[in-house]
This record gives sequence, structure tokens and C-alpha cells, in this order.
Amino acid sequence: MRFKIPIALLLLINTGWALELKQADLPADPLHGAALFTQKNCDRCHSIEGKGGTFGPDLARSDLDRSHLDIFAMMWNHSPQMSGIMTDLRLPRPSLASGDLTELAAYIYYIDYFDKPGDISHGMRVFSEKGCVNCHRVGSLGKAIGPDLAPIKKYVSPIFLAQMMWDHGPRIKAKMDELGIPWPHFDGAGIADLMAFLRDASPVTDPARVFMRPGNPQIGEQLFEDKGCIACHRVFGTGRAIGPDLTKSSFHRSATSVSAIMWNHGPVIWNRMEELGIQRPTFEDNEMADLTAFLYFVRFLEPEGDPLRGEMLFRQKGCQKCHYFGEKGVDSSFSLSRKGVDRSKVEIAAQMWNSGQVMAAMMTRMKTEWPRFGPGEMNDLLEYVRQNGNR
Ligand code: HEC
Ligand code: HEC
Ligand code: HEC
Ligand code: HEC
Repeated sequence: MRFKIPIALLLLINTGWALELKQADLPADPLHGAALFTQKNCDRCHSIEGKGGTFGPDLARSDLDRSHLDIFAMMWNHSPQMSGIMTDLRLPRPSLASGDLTELAAYIYYIDYFDKPGDISHGMRVFSEKGCVNCHRVGSLGKAIGPDLAPIKKYVSPIFLAQMMWDHGPRIKAKMDELGIPWPHFDGAGIADLMAFLRDASPVTDPARVFMRPGNPQIGEQLFEDKGCIACHRVFGTGRAIGPDLTKSSFHRSATSVSAIMWNHGPVIWNRMEELGIQRPTFEDNEMADLTAFLYFVRFLEPEGDPLRGEMLFRQKGCQKCHYFGEKGVDSSFSLSRKGVDRSKVEIAAQMWNSGQVMAAMMTRMKTEWPRFGPGEMNDLLEYVRQNGNR
């Protein structure tokens, strides 16, 4: 009886969350932007993991744990410098439609999602230090208390290992408690290194391989609901606060690292689930990749902009030296009003980007500095422009 009321409540509230979550605007395939990155010549100046041009920074080394519009702000900040180099290289300054901007930002944001190749010798150390060797065989190593891990060779991505560990977690935990082995914690590379070792040590010669597709954040969002995560976690201001608010932590790290975080908390999560009578979710096929991609992308989405702060920024950043709202004014091309047209913030951003060169030339003539933006500022400014321009 103790557990019946909360479950009924959960089911009731759940439909409300489902509707709200759907409004989030997550990319389905963040790799779509890779083609644009080349088409728009970004790769002439930027490399990713050492591949590409060197006029600008290697974006795999940049701190891109930022929202969509904050990534746009980084692009905006460097626009005059970029235009200068492009003129020297006789390349056209890229123009961007709002869809392009979203795809590029999603792609750049996605770079850190991919695991670095695992380190076999470190993986071998992990296998014994974390206690796996006490219960699992692979090749000539280990004991046969749990299943032989040799067949794991056919799985290429380390996320498969994380997924299998999660699915068998409570039974592994029970066996560990019995043998007095402490619950192993993993950092980012641990599971990827372990997988590299297992595949290397496996005597299996069958060449069949199973691949995991890069995670799809939209499917992951659905899984977050379907698997009941939302019954304990808040995201985008909805969900129940039994576990931590997952928009407050950063999951901008590789997919396997994100699943390592879940594993580390596993026993606590499973206990709470049992208490609340929530069925423990398991994962198959591509599900762990999709779910971790959702968590990874949670901070890509903008919080609501603050138009009052935006109005202040409009003055501080010097926009009001040239622009106004409404229909008065000598030259209507300086009016940011689009009466009755509800432009999204990203649409305004793209048009702002496309006018960047003309604005830069005019600012140079007026001896005003190119306005640069820090975290959150672009979101507030564009919220103000959006709301005012629509009147
Ligand atoms: C002509 C060369 C050039 C091109 C083309 C170029 N960039 Fe850049 N980019 C740079 C330079 C130089 C910097 C460093 C600017 C600075 O330090 O202020 C930079 C910085 C950045 C940054 C910030 C990185 C950081 O670590 O701070 C981002 C993001 C970025 N560029 C994205 C893009 C995108 C997306 C494109 C394609 C639409 C692009 N860039 C095209 C030269 C270029
Ligand atoms: C105390 C013993 C024990 C330890 C230590 C242990 N496991 Fe296991 N493991 C098991 C048992 C028992 C199962 C089977 C559970 C089940 O049937 O659900 C299992 C299942 C698995 C599976 C699923 C295998 C399959 O074929 O389905 C994987 C993968 C796995 N463990 C990986 C690991 C890794 C990696 C470590 C080290 C971090 C580890 N285990 C540590 C006992 C252990
Ligand atoms: C029954 C409640 C419950 C459910 C359902 C649940 N969690 Fe949790 N989760 C928790 C609690 C409690 C913690 C904190 C654990 C701790 O402190 O060790 C946590 C921690 C986490 C963390 C670590 C957060 C951080 O900031 O370090 C992640 C990631 C996570 N959960 C993901 C998930 C995902 C994904 C699902 C769905 C598959 C899920 N959880 C389902 C209760 C739950
Ligand atoms: C020195 C004058 C000047 C300043 C300062 C300036 N702009 Fe502009 N802006 C222009 C001009 C000129 C155009 C039109 C360029 C063209 O025709 O392509 C323009 C175009 C735009 C556009 C695209 C037109 C539209 O509404 O779709 C946006 C958006 C915009 N500016 C926003 C801003 C914001 C925000 C700031 C402050 C950060 C700013 N501008 C600062 C001169 C300026």
C-alpha cells in the first residue's frame, strides 16, 4: 500500500511532462552540420582533431560546452578577424540561413561526444584494478564466476560495454557484495580503455562486427520519458526532483563518460527505484548512445531570454547607435521592426551574421568597436530584439 499512491501520482503527472518536453528543439542528427562545415569553408581555417586548416583554433580543443546562441556569439566575436583572413585567401565570407546556423552549432557542440580511441594497456590495468578479473575470463586471464567476456569482441563501440554493464548491474552488485569487492567507479576514459583491452585480449576470430550509430538526441529525449528517468530527474524545469536536476550538471563529455556517470551512481539509483516501485530500465540496440546524446545536449538548448537585460545590452553594445524600432527614421533599413513577423532568435542571429561585413565597415567608419558577447548575452539581446521587433 505504501507504494501505490506515488506510482498513481507519477502516472498522472507524467502526461503533462510529456507534452512539455516535446517542445524542446533538439537536433536529430548533429552530424548533419559536418558537410556544411566544409561547404562554408570553416575547415579552411579550423581543424578538428588535427584535420583541417590552422588559421583558427582546433575546435576539438575549444571549450564548446555552450548553448546554441553562445556558440553563435563565439562565431560573431571573431567575424571581423575571419573576414580579414578570408579576403586574403580570396574566399567569400560565408552567408548562413537560420537552419545552417543551427546545424553548424549542433555539429561543433557534438565534437566532444565521440570517445577517443581506447588505450589497451591502461584497459588491462583497469580490468584487474577494478576487480573484473575476479569474476570474468577473457583469453587466458581471469576467473569464470561471471560470463566469459570474449564474445564482446564483435561490438565496436565502448558504449556497448557500458550498456551491458548497466543492464546486468544489480546482479553484478549482488555478487560483488557477496565477495566483498567494492563498487568500481569509472572516469571518462576508463570504460573505453577497458573495451579496447577486452577486444584485444579476446581469442574470438569471427570477423562479424556490430556498430553503434552516433546517438540521436531526439530519440534520447523520448527514451528519457519512456524509461522513467523523468520520474526522478528534472530537465528543462519539468520532472520530479528526487534525483539531481540534470540541466545543472555538465554532460558535455564523451558518450561513454556519460554512461560511466550513470554506472557510478547505479546502486543508489537502483535502490531508489525499488523503493518507489519503478521498474529498472535496461537498454538495447542503440538506446544507451541515444540517451547519453540527449543528456549531452541538454545544455545546448537556451534558457528563456531576459528582455530587460537585453534592452540594457542593446545600449551597452552600441546597437542603438544605428538601429531603432518602429517605422520612423530616415533610412528604414536601420529599423529592426518586422511588424507581425515573429522571427525566432536564431533567424535574427542569421540575418545579423549575414549583415556582419556591412556592419563592420560602418563601425570602422564610425570608429566604434566591434561588439563582443559573453555567455548568455546573445540570448538576452536577441530576446529583446525579437519581442520589440514584432510589435
Ligand atoms: C578565414 C579563417 C576562418 C574561417 C573561414 C572561419 N574561422 Fe572561426 N576562427 C578563426 C580565427 C582566427 C579564430 C580565433 C579568433 C580569436 O581568437 O578571437 C576563430 C574562432 C572561432 C571560434 C571560437 C573558438 C574558440 O576556441 O574561441 C568558433 C566557434 C569558430 N571560429 C567557428 C567557425 C565556423 C563555424 C566557421 C564557418 C562558418 C568559421 N569559424 C570560419 C578563423 C576562421
Ligand atoms: C563479483 C563478481 C563480478 C565482478 C567483480 C564483475 N562482474 Fe561482470 N558479471 C558478473 C555476473 C555474475 C554477471 C552475470 C549477471 C547476470 O546474469 O545478469 C556479470 C555480467 C557482466 C556482463 C554481461 C556479460 C554478458 O555476456 O551478458 C559484462 C559486460 C560485465 N559483467 C562486465 C564486467 C566488468 C567490466 C567488470 C569490472 C568493472 C565486472 N563485470 C565485474 C559478476 C561480476
Ligand atoms: C528512482 C529515481 C531515479 C530514477 C528513475 C532515475 N534516477 Fe538518476 N539518479 C537518482 C538519484 C537519487 C541520483 C543521485 C545518486 C547519487 O547521489 O549517487 C541519480 C543520479 C543520476 C545521474 C548523475 C547525476 C550527476 O549530476 O552526477 C545521472 C546521469 C542519472 N541519474 C541519470 C539517470 C537516467 C538516464 C535515468 C533513466 C534511465 C535515471 N537517472 C533514472 C534517481 C533516479
Ligand atoms: C554602425 C552601425 C551599426 C551598428 C552599431 C549595428 N548595426 Fe546592425 N546593421 C547595420 C546595417 C547598416 C545593417 C544592414 C546591412 C545590410 O544591408 O546587409 C544592419 C543589419 C542588422 C541586422 C539584419 C537586419 C534585420 O533586421 O534582419 C540585424 C539583426 C542587426 N543589424 C542587429 C544588430 C545588433 C543586435 C547590433 C548590436 C550588437 C547591431 N546590429 C549593431 C548597422 C549597424
